[in-house]
Amino acid sequence: MDRWVGRVAMVTGGSGGIGRALVKKFVQSGLKVLTCGRSVDKLKTLEVECEGMTGKLVTIRCDMQNEADIAEMFTKLRSEFGRLDILVNNAGVGSDSASMLSGETSDWREMLETNVLAVAICTREGVKLMRECDINDGHIINIGSMSGHRIAGKSGHFYSITKFALKEMTEGLRRELRETKNQTRVTLISPGYVSTGFHDYSLGKDNETRDRMRKLKTVPDIQQLETDDIVDAVVYAVGAPPHVQIHDILMRPTEQVV
Ligand SMILES: NC(=O)c1ccc[n+]([C@@H]2O[C@H](COP(=O)([O-])OP(=O)(O)OC[C@H]3O[C@@H](n4cnc5c(N)ncnc54)[C@H](OP(=O)(O)O)[C@@H]3O)[C@@H](O)[C@H]2O)c1
Repeated sequence: MDRWVGRVAMVTGGSGGIGRALVKKFVQSGLKVLTCGRSVDKLKTLEVECEGMTGKLVTIRCDMQNEADIAEMFTKLRSEFGRLDILVNNAGVGSDSASMLSGETSDWREMLETNVLAVAICTREGVKLMRECDINDGHIINIGSMSGHRIAGKSGHFYSITKFALKEMTEGLRRELRETKNQTRVTLISPGYVSTGFHDYSLGKDNETRDRMRKLKTVPDIQQLETDDIVDAVVYAVGAPPHVQIHDILMRPTEQVV
């Protein structure tokens, strides 16, 4: 991580789970980090936990479904740090009950806007800032999912659609960067089950749906990956020498079957 010390990272969805663990690792490693989420209380706690670490942390409330919020986040990034070296598109949501036959449009829209559209907007704005600052060795990490590589699960097929889209977006972005002779690297990290609050959120927004989905046992009873396992994968990808582009990392808990 030495060559990233003092440089700037944006991690979306740092208020919980994988994003939170990654923000801490980056700040501990001496990076300046801007992160966001909708839960301001959790962001404030994270700020306190990062006090005294080598790097610097700035947080902002941002709803990734709201383009004006995303624009405001980039304005904050520009005013606080004035550049961007690493962008981690991590914020994401799933919905186990949003099946193809009976899913609610609002759940499909939330996944599409958060997992796909917001990533595209952040990537466009992030690369724009990197170019303005003549940064030619930046890194964009997309947090995908095993659900973007194979059809599995009992009902979360719309979530899979968004993660398959992210896989396509990652390769499309890499090609566009290369065509413009930009050497910013692009990595897709696709975990299986990770122990975070993600699956609680995915169960549903009301008690009746949550109880129904619990009975379906959409999450297997296995030892899941830890957030630090995903952090290790990010550190490996950004820590590789500049001529090495780590494109795809797929990782499952050992006990996970599909
Ligand atoms: N956990 C798994 O098993 C698993 C497996 C494969 C892939 N992933 C992927 O890993 C990424 C991180 O998930 P996680 O497991 O860390 O889940 P998590 O613990 O639920 O954290 C999700 C993060 O995304 C943020 N977020 C969600 N919707 C947002 C919105 N509209 N605006 C702003 N921030 C939003 C949340 O912040 P707020 O709630 O504060 O808004 C939170 O910080 C996601 O892209 C997910 O698809 C997770």
